[in-house]
Amino acid sequence: MSCPNGYILAVEGLAKICIPNPNLYKRDDGVYEPSWAPVFYNPRMVENRDICVALLKTDSGDAAIVDPLAATGVRGIRIALEANLPKGVAIYMSDLSLAAIKIMEHNVKLNNLEEYITIVHADANELIYRLAKREGIALGYIDVDPFGSPAPFIHTAIDSVKRYGIVALTATDLAVLGGRYRVKLFRRYGVAGTKVLQSRDVAIRVLLSFVAKVAAIYDRYIEPLLSYAMSHYVRVYVRVYRGGMKASEILNNCLGALWSCTKCSYSYMHQIDGVVEKAIHCPVCGEKLEPIYPIWICPTANREYLEKLLKTANEMYWLRENSRKLLENIYRTSTLNTLSTRLTHIAKAIKTNVPSIQSVVDCLIQKGFIAAKSYTYSDGIATNASINEIIECVKSRTPKV
Ligand SMILES: C[S@@+](CC[C@H](N)C(=O)[O-])C[C@H]1O[C@@H](n2cnc3c(N)ncnc32)[C@H](O)[C@@H]1O
Repeated sequence: MSCPNGYILAVEGLAKICIPNPNLYKRDDGVYEPSWAPVFYNPRMVENRDICVALLKTDSGDAAIVDPLAATGVRGIRIALEANLPKGVAIYMSDLSLAAIKIMEHNVKLNNLEEYITIVHADANELIYRLAKREGIALGYIDVDPFGSPAPFIHTAIDSVKRYGIVALTATDLAVLGGRYRVKLFRRYGVAGTKVLQSRDVAIRVLLSFVAKVAAIYDRYIEPLLSYAMSHYVRVYVRVYRGGMKASEILNNCLGALWSCTKCSYSYMHQIDGVVEKAIHCPVCGEKLEPIYPIWICPTANREYLEKLLKTANEMYWLRENSRKLLENIYRTSTLNTLSTRLTHIAKAIKTNVPSIQSVVDCLIQKGFIAAKSYTYSDGIATNASINEIIECVKSRTPKV
């Protein structure tokens, strides 16, 4: 079976997919621009899909799976081929674009999956609500992978997923989530704040706070299973539970404020109604700290869950090395519920040269703390050590010139 005009055959994971010919949609600088193609396919999202498939291979019940913004259908097709789903699990895919529906149908046939995948030409919210509310189908996994912000689909997904089901969200509006546009951050996510030196870490916590607030409206609450920031996007996987009282408890315990220094990256988080005894000026460099609130201050991943996921990913030889590495890096810092401390900025603030990041991590571990290189910033560390301990290590490991 060949591809229609304007499409070429690509292999991703175990799937064969007809994708728009990237040579036809190149910018002046020669880089492929997926949003110019008639149907969206982004090769920079392979890791995103690798991890999604590994997660479903680790943890799929027998309830239906929904990929409501499916474009070429690559995600749903890979799930069907690679996740080893229990027999009879239905997969639904939809898209608003007719061109997407056509190529999706072609791709489903190409992989002989007509029996397992149902394609619907519909709006994502419409499909999810119809399946859950009108047809009474139990939805175990909903994958929201839109252009930009997932916010317009979060109410529907959270309200429709079954008890203990999983909602996965991709957000490519990293600049908004990370605080670069203060007004839009407040308008879209109800969070007040600005861009700080750990804006990628902040983006994850802003998105989780929004999801937790939406869940509470429906007397539901969330547990983040895995969250990460990579290249131009944030991805979170949350398990959704039912219970109004518990939802209130989660809001009290897990929504809080972050204070961060935009000069040296010193930061701390506290519960929203917690008494703040700490200074609002940075103890390292004296700069005024910037508040961001309400953001998610509880762990952003579940370590035991990650352990199982990593084991599955390691057995899936066809996944990208990068995908496994990313999971390992997230796992390394998963006992630490902190933001990255960025050593180039700390070193500058204390007027010293920058030591090797690993040497500071080793120094903190020798002192008995938990410490690891951050995966979000190449000059960042995650640790449970105090800022004074970090500074001592920075000073002791700085190369003398
Ligand atoms: C980022 S692409 C999805 C990529 C795909 N999930 C993948 O892994 O390759 C977003 C898709 O959502 C579709 N879309 C946008 N708004 C929609 C809506 N309200 N309902 C359904 N599909 C929509 C677009 O046509 C586009 O194909």
